[in-house]
Amino acid sequence: MKGMVFTEFLEMVEMKFSADMVDDIIDDSAPPSGGAYTAVGTYDHVELVNMVVALSKRCDIPVPTLVQVFGEHLFGRFHTLYPTFFAGQASVMDFLEGIETVIHTEVRKLYPDAQLPQFDCTRDVGGLQMRYSSPRHFGDLAEGLIKGAVAHFGGGVQVSRLDQDNGDIVFDLRTLA
Ligand code: HEM
Repeated sequence: MKGMVFTEFLEMVEMKFSADMVDDIIDDSAPPSGGAYTAVGTYDHVELVNMVVALSKRCDIPVPTLVQVFGEHLFGRFHTLYPTFFAGQASVMDFLEGIETVIHTEVRKLYPDAQLPQFDCTRDVGGLQMRYSSPRHFGDLAEGLIKGAVAHFGGGVQVSRLDQDNGDIVFDLRTLA
């Protein structure tokens, strides 16, 4: 996983908890990389999972909640860091429908070693279904990113999550009447 995901996570922990908490969760999880991440580096995503587990133990907030909160935070950071991806996007449905075909496709060009999930999108009247699949199983991160996107575009969209037997997750987005 790209280092920017790690640096953004640790910055969020420092902001919402403290710099000591950052040191503590790195100590607790003893990442093979040593915990000094650079934005352009690439690291094992398990190191991130282990740090979230360590944070969960220390702050007594469930892992899925922490990962979702991080997803919402990360969405805001993506918006700041990659404003061009948002230009001309009329609605959250249009934006999210293009995650696979536009945004992550561009991310792949920028970072050929990026490990990205797959989103299969189906649009219908008033809604969008997104099937998420990834061997890294970061569905909670996807949920946080999707909810961050909905909030960014002004809300008014209900997000439901249907976990599938094969590990995929279908996110159903409906415009609220
Ligand atoms: C401007 C917006 C976005 C940018 C620039 C972006 C870029 C990235 C980057 C750089 C990674 C890390 C890849 C790696 O570590 O190798 C990533 C991972 C990921 N992205 Fe995006 N992303 C954006 C929006 C979104 C949105 C809105 C969603 C949800 C629909 C999403 C879902 C994910 C997930 C779930 C991962 C974790 C990897 C996995 O699940 O296998 N991204 N993205």
